[in-house]
Amino acid sequence: MMRPEDFDFVSRLIKSKSGLVLSQDKTYLLESRLMPIARKRGLKDLTELIAALRGGDRVLVEEVVDAMTTNESFFFRDTKPFDQFRHVVLPHMIKERASKRHLRIWCAAASSGQEPYSLAMILDEFKTQLSGWRVEIIGTDISREILTKARAGLYSQFEVQRGLPIQLLVKYFQKKEDQWQISQEIRSKVQYKEFNLLDDFRPLGQFDIVYCRNVLIYFDQPTKTDVLSRISALMPDDGFLFLGGAETVLGISDKFKPLARQRGIYQLNRPGAPDVDVSALEKIQAAGPAAASAGAATGGFAFPKPKHMQNAAGGTTASTGAGTTTPPRPGLSTGTGARPTTTTGTGSTGTAARPLTTGTTGTAGSTYSRPSATGTGGTGSDGTAGLTYRRPLGTTGSTGSTPPARPSSGTGSTGTGTTRPSTTFDRSRLGKPEDKK
Ligand SMILES: C[S@@+](CC[C@H](N)C(=O)[O-])C[C@H]1O[C@@H](n2cnc3c(N)ncnc32)[C@H](O)[C@@H]1O
Repeated sequence: MMRPEDFDFVSRLIKSKSGLVLSQDKTYLLESRLMPIARKRGLKDLTELIAALRGGDRVLVEEVVDAMTTNESFFFRDTKPFDQFRHVVLPHMIKERASKRHLRIWCAAASSGQEPYSLAMILDEFKTQLSGWRVEIIGTDISREILTKARAGLYSQFEVQRGLPIQLLVKYFQKKEDQWQISQEIRSKVQYKEFNLLDDFRPLGQFDIVYCRNVLIYFDQPTKTDVLSRISALMPDDGFLFLGGAETVLGISDKFKPLARQRGIYQLNRPGAPDVDVSALEKIQAAGPAAASAGAATGGFAFPKPKHMQNAAGGTTASTGAGTTTPPRPGLSTGTGARPTTTTGTGSTGTAARPLTTGTTGTAGSTYSRPSATGTGGTGSDGTAGLTYRRPLGTTGSTGSTPPARPSSGTGSTGTGTTRPSTTFDRSRLGKPEDKK
């Protein structure tokens, strides 16, 4: 058990190095994240580890800070920030930057890469309009370890089913043993760099669009104010800032103002900030979640929100299958809500537009509640000419089967059933794999 004075020392050290605030009730978290480091270094216990930290071991300090980061992320997280990018920000920038043909995007807490890669996939939809442009996506994060994963672009079955439409899985990913790797083409569109948000931003250059999502929640108010102020200094008058669902500038920074009638997206609070037309997105949003996420440039496919984010009207369901249960994981955060235990399992899915599946159970061979699903798919993806399949009521998901190498033509694919019975979750329950132990 960590002594209170040791907790104070380590939490102050972490805050000074990263901005991350650890309240006293996170002692268990600190212990569970630091113990593996102590073991790896052959130290007897946390007292020895803390003595090494007090002795100024810089490599160890970095390792400890890295261990205390919460790297939770998923593709097209929260949907809206990506719909806003696709339907408002990008069309606006394509017009405004027509002569410059240069766009710079910063994902300031890129974590394992799902956020910058989601943007890169959207940009790929616009490749005709962006032909001849230089578009840069810079993904930065304080965690060296998570950036290694981001660069590799390798994701588990569970990760590709969190927010990633199956059409995009088919289009941009390849199976690599039991993981999925995003294509080299998409990977090459993102540059990663280890970077601490407490450091001077100026060497990074100017950014037209900044995603600084789900990181400010871990900082105290003066740090949030300072980070937002320094971000604003990097942006042109017509830039856009995206924050996470639990983050805001209101009461924290007067450098930004919310974009009218849209949540989570901000403009500079400067006279030069343009009026931006959001009516196209509003019309699409009024038509439902599937329409909002439809590929603008291709006029193509629709991918509704994951079920756990939908209202009663949203989308189809797929399947459940053999269940393995992931217990809630503790983590570092100030988020609210209650994330239920997540049950995952392999089961069969078709070409349902929605990647995350829902069901009533996650036990082996359970029956899924999908009444009937009709999908089309020449490639199992975006509904161009192809076969139609129909799933009968109450078919049983396959138990524990391994997903095939790649969803096959026409008949859909095998995937992982995931039960998420609630629409809210507690970020503090999410963390690193070792938290489960
Ligand atoms: C919860 S993830 C957010 C990922 C992504 N933006 C999203 O919304 O899905 C938070 C990330 O912030 C990073 N982070 C925490 N403190 C940081 C700091 N001081 N500088 C840069 N990144 C930091 C963590 O390493 C972690 O990967």
